Order: sequence, then structure tokens, then C-alpha cells
Amino acid sequence: MTEAILLVGGKGSRLRPLTVHTPKPMVPAAGVPFLTHQLARAKAAGVEHIVLATSYLAEVFEPYFGDGSALGLHLEYVTEEEPLGTGGAIRNVASRLHSGPEDPVLIFNGDILTGLDIAALVSTHQSSGADVSLHLTRVEDPRAFGLVPTDATGRVTAFLEKPQTPEEIVTDQINAGAYVFRRSVIDTIPAGRPVSVERETFPGLLSSGAHLQGMVDSTYWLDLGTPQAFVRGSADLVLGRAPSPAVPGRCGDRLVLPSATVAADAKLTGGTVIGSNAVIAEGARIDGSAVLEGAIVEEGAVISASLIGAGARVGARTVLSGVVIGDGAVVGEDNELREGARVWCDAVLPASSVRFSSDQ
Ligand code: GDD
Ligand code: MG
Repeated sequence: MTEAILLVGGKGSRLRPLTVHTPKPMVPAAGVPFLTHQLARAKAAGVEHIVLATSYLAEVFEPYFGDGSALGLHLEYVTEEEPLGTGGAIRNVASRLHSGPEDPVLIFNGDILTGLDIAALVSTHQSSGADVSLHLTRVEDPRAFGLVPTDATGRVTAFLEKPQTPEEIVTDQINAGAYVFRRSVIDTIPAGRPVSVERETFPGLLSSGAHLQGMVDSTYWLDLGTPQAFVRGSADLVLGRAPSPAVPGRCGDRLVLPSATVAADAKLTGGTVIGSNAVIAEGARIDGSAVLEGAIVEEGAVISASLIGAGARVGARTVLSGVVIGDGAVVGEDNELREGARVWCDAVLPASSVRFSSDQ
């Protein structure tokens, strides 16, 4: 049975303030910590043993997932004292693997929502005889990713992480953040110092003649690294557009966790999720958004494509669009916040403080 490594040690800086108290993989998407969806999909593909490579806020993973038996998995946790980067993290957990030198080992970035056929990636790896196989996807703007050109047979010809110049943008195929490594290749990554798998390991393997194989798969794919993407991903899970066996309820226009309270005339649409113990008052309209545990949305508030942090409060008639409200923050009534605004955890914005228009 193939085993897997999950990289979950990043700081999640682009998601702040959501990641001030919570590491990115533990931020709830469609009602459960995002990582639950990845674990459930790996389990469904037949993976049983998963090692979590943790660093930032490492202490929160194990109390939640324990030994993994609730998910039918065997989970182990390895914490880096200092972040070791993606390659260093992989090397640092190698001693926990049971695989033999020739066996395939799956490795996943911990912030990817995808319908990837995991078994197909492993079988591509086996049939091509590659040292490393990579899931590739096509995106319109590849600049924020690792570019991975391939030849006609799918063999990787270069790896260009986060290209800086137009000349480096040689393809729209990017590293989708799921790999199969031959176990012995993991053991060649230097131990005890930071290593980037993207900037050091992949280019080094290519220049030494190793066989890296790409598998382009155009199924659902989203990196949840930004607030906009995270909210989109959560909504797509609720709507059933993104596949996960771990959505806690039936997929549809909305998902309301059992202990939440929603007024009869509140309107929830577009894959909105209302977390446990949250309260949604009369006349509120919430579209394509995530309201986390214990948050309160008051009368007539209008929220779209936004994430309301745990225990936060959104005042009456306030309008939020494309916004992140940190845990415990209070946005008073009659405010208007739009695309890109981030209200920090526990901040208090008085009533009628911010508007984007002059009308009342
Ligand atoms: N344990 C550990 N230690 N994990 C880490 C560390 C570390 O020092 N640094 C990053 N990670 C984890 C993050 O938690 C995340 O799950 C994964 O490694 C990738 O890090 P990101 O910070 O999300 O990288 P990115 O999104 O900018 O780029 C990566 O993903 C793209 C696809 O979404 C690269 O792999 C790109 O090549 C790729 O295209
Ligand atoms: Mg990422």
C-alpha cells in the first residue's frame, strides 16, 4: 500500500489574518479543517499511512486528528524545529516511511483542493519508470507557481519556480503540488538544512539526468493560498463542484452545521457554509461565503465571497464583499468593506466607519 507525506508546515502568510491562530491546513473549508478533505481523498485512493510534516503552529494538528483512526488512517507527525522548506521537510520525515528503496511514495502540498486521480498518478509513475512523477495542471497566469515544461512523452524538461522574467514563461503547465517519489530519491535530499524541492531538488535531479515525468490532469484544481481562493474552494466543496468525501452534509447551495442558528428569512446561497454555533439573524443575505464557528451575522447584513472568522461579529446592514474578518473581530453596523479588505483578529470597527459609496 502506497504511503504519503503531507507538507503542512508553511506560514500561510498570504492568508493572514486567517492563519494568525490557525495553520492554513486547519482553517475550516466546508465545515471541517481543510486538511480533512485531503486526508479523506488520500484514504479513498487507498493510502493508509500518512506522515504530516509540520512546522508553523505544529501543536494543533495532533490534538485534532490524533492517530488518524477516526478517518481509517494511520497518521504520524514530525515537527521541524526551524522550517526546513519543502524538500527539507520531505527528507526530515524519511525515517518514518516503511517503503522499500524502489517503492513509490506520495507527497502532497497541504493547500491544494483537487479532483486528481491519485491512483492514476501512481500508475503513471510505475509504468514510466520515472524517479519522480508530478501532477501538472494548466492555468491562465502561471507566474505564482512552478512552471513545468514537458516533451511529447510527458517527460519533464525544466522546472522554473515562480518565474521572474517574461522569457521564463515557457508554458502554462504548472506543478500542481502532488508528487510520487521513488523512495530512494527522497534519501538523496540533504538532511539537516533547509531545502526547497522546487528550487533545488527538482532542478538538481534534472541536471543530473534523472527521469521526472509529468502527468497533466485537467480535473478541478485550486491552490487555497489566498483568501479569495480559500473562500472559492470552500464554496465549491459545498456546491459539490470540488470532490471530497469529507463534506459534513449533503452538497448544495448551502451547508449549515447542526448547532448553527439561522433565521427563517435569511438567504444563504452559492455554497455558503455556516459553522457550528454561528448565528445568522433576520434578513441577512450571504452568498459564496464561509462563516466560521461561533460567528454572529446581524440583521440585514449582506455578505458575498467573504470569510468571517471564528467568533467574529458582523453588524446589522453591514455590506462585505471579498473580505476577510479575523477571528473575534467586530465590524459594527452600517459599514461597507470591499475586495481585499482584511480586518485583523479581535479588531473593532465602530458603526458607520467605512464606506465605499456616499449613499446611505
Ligand atoms: N513542513 C514544512 N516546512 N512545510 C512547508 C514548508 C516548511 O518549511 N514550507 C512550505 N511548506 C508547505 C506549505 O504548508 C504548503 O502545504 C506546501 O509546502 C507548499 O507551500 P506554499 O507556500 O503553499 O507554496 P506555493 O503555493 O507558493 O507554491 C507551491 O505550490 C504550487 C502549487 O500550488 C510550489 O510547489 C509550486 O511549484 C506549485 O506550483
Ligand atoms: Mg500554496
